Parts: sequence; structure tokens; C-alpha cells
Amino acid sequence: MAECQDRTKELYALPLASSTEEGGRLDEQHNMLKLHLGSLFPCPDAVAQVMAGGEEQTKSVLDLGSGSGVWCLDVANQFPQAQVVGIDITPNLRQTMPPNCKFEIWNINQGLAPFYGQFDIVHLRFIQGIVDHHAMTVEAVKCLKPGGLVIFLRAGEYVTEDRTTVTPAASSRMPDQSWYQRLWCLLECGSTQRGIPTEEYDHDYQQGFWDYDGIDTRKCGAAFITIPMGTWVATSDPSENTRLRSIGDFWVKNLLRVSKVLAHVMVTSGRSEKEVESLRANLEKEHHEARIRLSMVIRAIWGHARGLGDTKDQNQDPAQGGNVTLPVIASEPGEYRVKTIFDSKAAWTKFNTDLASTMTPDTKGLRTIPGFDPMEE
Ligand SMILES: C[S@@+](CC[C@H](N)C(=O)[O-])C[C@H]1O[C@@H](n2cnc3c(N)ncnc32)[C@H](O)[C@@H]1O
Repeated sequence: MAECQDRTKELYALPLASSTEEGGRLDEQHNMLKLHLGSLFPCPDAVAQVMAGGEEQTKSVLDLGSGSGVWCLDVANQFPQAQVVGIDITPNLRQTMPPNCKFEIWNINQGLAPFYGQFDIVHLRFIQGIVDHHAMTVEAVKCLKPGGLVIFLRAGEYVTEDRTTVTPAASSRMPDQSWYQRLWCLLECGSTQRGIPTEEYDHDYQQGFWDYDGIDTRKCGAAFITIPMGTWVATSDPSENTRLRSIGDFWVKNLLRVSKVLAHVMVTSGRSEKEVESLRANLEKEHHEARIRLSMVIRAIWGHARGLGDTKDQNQDPAQGGNVTLPVIASEPGEYRVKTIFDSKAAWTKFNTDLASTMTPDTKGLRTIPGFDPMEE
């Protein structure tokens, strides 16, 4: 397949995964996420259901924006009977691959017509570079076989230690607040300015798969996953502390690395070189002081395509219309809650609305208004 002809490579802000350094970073990030979740998937039960019976019938998996290809490689090893296909705008240069895994160059912004109706799982994780997120999601659902499973993951804002409040971003009014959060805001704002509508991405993730044509509303889910930034976690289990601290330590260093390669996103959206430099110095300071205990958010959403013979009439969200009960979200002292699962749209959207309402006006301004509250010192 031909290399992409449009502006996708320009729009995609990170270095291409085919570079040795970025490929290595993505591999490490994947391994740390796998360690955090204890799985390659945020919804292992739903995966087990669709992958059952793979001995008699070949299963197939599509990874959208496969990057270094490490997720595909692990999935191909875990399910030797399945065929795994990774697609990306950049070629995959991995030397040794299992025979049931292959990569193709494909720009998702062209749609996914060659892949329609063929897959038991369609997976997408941490992908920017999509011009129309909603249209792409509709395309991804079309790639499923009846009963197949679509799974998306996206990294988001930072939350407080108890996971229920958005950590305020550092601003000229509140310079002692989080510079990690300020970085996230400037990147979101910069990406939107560059043609990647991050607010639309957020909206789609906060709605989940419940309302897509072809999806069985009864079998959708979402997960609120958090990763502690740094080594502050103290649970009652020493081995869990070791695990979470190694993950937290990796993630801070990963963020500091990413802040270097994404400096251009902030500059092209109106921030001065001096401000970007000062931001980076403050990120290092926040890391060394370890004063603010916060976690990075990952939202995962999934849904099953309707099976053969299912009708639209069966699509009813069990919680729609009634009182909404939220699952337990907050971590209690002495524990760290990695993941909370939601099985109703009403609960998931209420939770996201409640969380967004805790965002300070400065944090909102930094995310949405180019050049808002410059801080050069
Ligand atoms: C941050 S990397 C994540 C890679 C992988 N999903 C993972 O989680 O390790 C995002 C990947 O999406 C790819 N990508 C971005 N826009 C794309 C598009 N329009 N079509 C295909 N791939 C795209 C990039 O080339 C990059 O490899």
C-alpha cells in the first residue's frame, strides 16, 4: 500500500515510530502499561469471550496506529491461532515477528474500507493524527465481524491522589500547582490549533461506544484507569508498592522525554521558546520536589458489534432513565485503585461530567484558549 499522501505525517506531532528512539520508547511504554493492567487489554473478560474457540476458527485482530508493533507482537504470541494485523502511516521495522503477525502501511484518515467486516477485535491506543475522530470511530466499528469487540484507549488529564478531582494546572495565579497538568493543557490546546481536535476526541471517549450504529448497547463498557506519577504510592502491600513505584518512576521520565519532543507543538500554538524552556525547568522541579501526588488518567472504552440476528430494539442501556449509581472510584488511604469499570452509559457520562466540573477556570483556559496566561519565568 502506498505511503500516505495527505498532511497526516505533518499533523502527527511525535517522532515517527520507525525511528529507533521513538520505537524503543513506545516498547517501554507498552511494557509498563502491561505491567500496570496485568493484561494487554483493559477488558480481559470481553476479550476472552470473543477469542474463545480460536482453535476451530481463525480469529483476527486489527491494531490501528500500531507504532512500534509491540502490542501486536504480544497479542500474536498470546493467541497463536489468531491473525494479527497492525496498520500505521510509518513502516514497521521490527526484525523478528511471529508468523501470525503482519503490518501494513495505511493512513486511517482515508477510511478503513479494505478492512471492513473482517475482525474479532479492533484495537486503538494512544493515537493522535486523526483529523475526524468520530468518523474514524464509525469506520473502526465497520471493521468488526458480528459479535466482534472494539477497544480504544486515550491518555488524558491528571487527577488528585484520591482520583476524584482534576489537579489544578500551575498558572500565574497559582504557580505552586501542577506543571505536569499545565503541560497536558498546552499540548491539548496546541494539537487543536494544529488541526487535531482534541475536544472531539475527549467527547467521544466520555460518551463511550453505547450510541454507535452496529454496536450492542448491552455489551459496552468503559474503564477509568490511573497511573501514579512518581514514587509516592504507599499501600499496605510492599510488593504492590514496588510495582507501582517502578511504573510511576517510568511514567514521569517518559513525560519529561515527551515534553522535549513535543516542544514544537507548544511553540506553534503561540507559546514562546522561553516559556517552553521555563515549563520544562518547572516539570523537572515538580519531579524532584515530589510535593504533588497525582495520577495520569487513561480512559478505555469498548463495545461488541451486534451478533447475527440481533436487532436494534434490543439496544437498551440498563441504567437509562433510572437513578445513576457510580462504581467506587476513590482510592482509600493505604490502597491504590488502578482501574474502575463502568457498564452503563449513564454512569460513565455522569462520572466524566462530575470530574470535569472540578477543573479550575485556569486549567480550562489553558486547554482551550491559545496563549492564555503566558508564564515565561
Ligand atoms: C503514540 S503512537 C502509539 C502506538 C501504539 N498504538 C502504542 O500504543 O504503542 C501513535 C501511532 O499512531 C500512528 N498514527 C497517527 N496517525 C495515524 C493515521 N492517520 N493513520 C495511521 N496511523 C497513524 C503514528 O504513526 C504512531 O505510530
